[in-house]
Amino acid sequence: MCGIIGILGKTDTVPAMLGALKRLEYRGYDSAGVAVLDDGQIKRRREIGKLQALMNSVGDDPIAGTSGIGHTRWATHGEPTTKNAHPHITSRVAVVHNGIIENFRDLRDELKNLGIICEGESDTEVITKLLDHYLQDGMDPVTAFKAMISRVTGAYALAVLMSGEKDLMLGARRGSPLVIGLGDGEMFFGSDALALADLTNRLIYMEEGDLAVLSHSKAEIYDKNDTLVQRKISFSHISGALIDRGNHRHFMQKEIYEQPTVVAQTLGRYLNPNTGTIALPAMDFSLANISKITLVACGTSYYAALVAKYWIEQYAHVSVDVDIASEFRYRNPVYAQGGLCLFISQSGETADTLAALRHAKDAGQHVGVIVNAAESSMAREAALVMHTHAGPEIGVASTKAFTCQLAVLAAFTVALGVERSVIETSRSRALVAELESAPTLISKILSDHDPIISMADKLASARDILFVGRGIQYPIALEGALKLKELSYIHAEGYAAGELKHGPIALIDEHVPVIGIAPKGEISKKTISNLQEIAARKGNVILVSDDISLSTEFKGAFIMPTAGQFIEPLVYAIPVQLIAYYTAVAKGTDVDQPRNLAKAVTVE
Ligand code: F6R
Repeated sequence: MCGIIGILGKTDTVPAMLGALKRLEYRGYDSAGVAVLDDGQIKRRREIGKLQALMNSVGDDPIAGTSGIGHTRWATHGEPTTKNAHPHITSRVAVVHNGIIENFRDLRDELKNLGIICEGESDTEVITKLLDHYLQDGMDPVTAFKAMISRVTGAYALAVLMSGEKDLMLGARRGSPLVIGLGDGEMFFGSDALALADLTNRLIYMEEGDLAVLSHSKAEIYDKNDTLVQRKISFSHISGALIDRGNHRHFMQKEIYEQPTVVAQTLGRYLNPNTGTIALPAMDFSLANISKITLVACGTSYYAALVAKYWIEQYAHVSVDVDIASEFRYRNPVYAQGGLCLFISQSGETADTLAALRHAKDAGQHVGVIVNAAESSMAREAALVMHTHAGPEIGVASTKAFTCQLAVLAAFTVALGVERSVIETSRSRALVAELESAPTLISKILSDHDPIISMADKLASARDILFVGRGIQYPIALEGALKLKELSYIHAEGYAAGELKHGPIALIDEHVPVIGIAPKGEISKKTISNLQEIAARKGNVILVSDDISLSTEFKGAFIMPTAGQFIEPLVYAIPVQLIAYYTAVAKGTDVDQPRNLAKAVTVE
């Protein structure tokens, strides 16, 4: 979602701000802007569309200044127009904001009664005018900023410049992340560590309710009670080089190809191949006593949770509930006494998942996270943190983070089963050995998937596509459909193969491709029967399976390497990613930043 950069620098900040905005592009945005203090006066440029438009604008009509703030906006309140783009300014202040100010209408009415008119539909414009009003009333900058903050409800990360204040930048966080970067005679704000990569590696992650007053030489932080506090300094290893596509055409392609390495890297943190055992991070409760597990996540991470339900119930014999995070707390979930709630998130900042986590924590549940962004809010708020080691995921559509989530969930399942004495030592060894074989199998698919490329060329002209699977492949069918629709904008749905006859089969005709995911095994016989029913109705079936005897049974097939049954979902995630990727390439859509999507969804 929206991205923030703020720089109190020594030289002109505009090139560094544009570089930071470039690193923030992956979050998804529809307009961008920068503002600087030029001789104490606020100067601004804003453009809709890609960052290049802003770069052109700054090139055509340059602005410069040693302090500046910049923003990439993903529209929430108000359309993606130049008028609604950030920074919002008055003659006295410039503001960039991530999040949503919930009471902006009340504040706008209040300002209107004072004769102060807001021209756009943006909530940020309202708080900018409110701050300006307090300054005009004679408050000093910090008092005015605190006064403004005390009036707003909702979520925000803010960075603020004030005219005439060359040695001052203000920031605040509630609900949306904000990081302070400590430089050498320079200070920074960023919405994440990537924004500040190449600027500094000394970071302070602001906590909920924190407000920061930056000068060139120091960062003062006030907590939610307005008490001056010291926060821990972290050292970031993220470099701007990580957001380099290398020889790949898209970040998504690069990230798909990174999977053998990052899945192995992730498994390596949990598996001990010599003993065939799994070590989870220390926890202050016993897995043996957990009566129920609740898995909560959004989107692709939710599908990882669905796969885990099959794994945990089958292999560790613990009852699992799976919830979409945005539904979770509003349905008044019944928590089991001493239950474990696990939240799954690549970004660790997804607003709904974070709110669900806090709900479970308040209810006294054991709370764990499976998270990729190591310093994210979820990682800092959970008692049990299981990291995926996928590295930064830049493509908006999740790929390597998903397979790494599956790797951790598989390892968790085995550890849980062992802890509860339902998985014996020899079984644990066999499952660990299967997990270890996953990276090689993924490599094999990646090195030999030409049939998917020609398949995708044909899929690109379809209007609707179905993905079907049974059992643990059902969530992979859902993931395939999600990936395809978000990247190629083709309508796609995932179904449990056995459900088709209960309604969706009405959609089938010769124009609807149906991708059947059916690794060889007992349950695949049922899936194959369902696919035959589709073929009998002229459905255009494409089989994804390791059963070579079926390679000519349907109109199309992609033959997979044979994987151990336990790791099949991890391996079958790859062809569905490739199908979505190549179909989008064939359609010519924006693979890395599909329309309307944002990387970390930090608003509800
Ligand atoms: C789809 C995708 C999204 C995310 C979802 C949750 O390709 O990436 O569906 O999985 O927005 O995000 P995280 O995992 O960051 O909580």
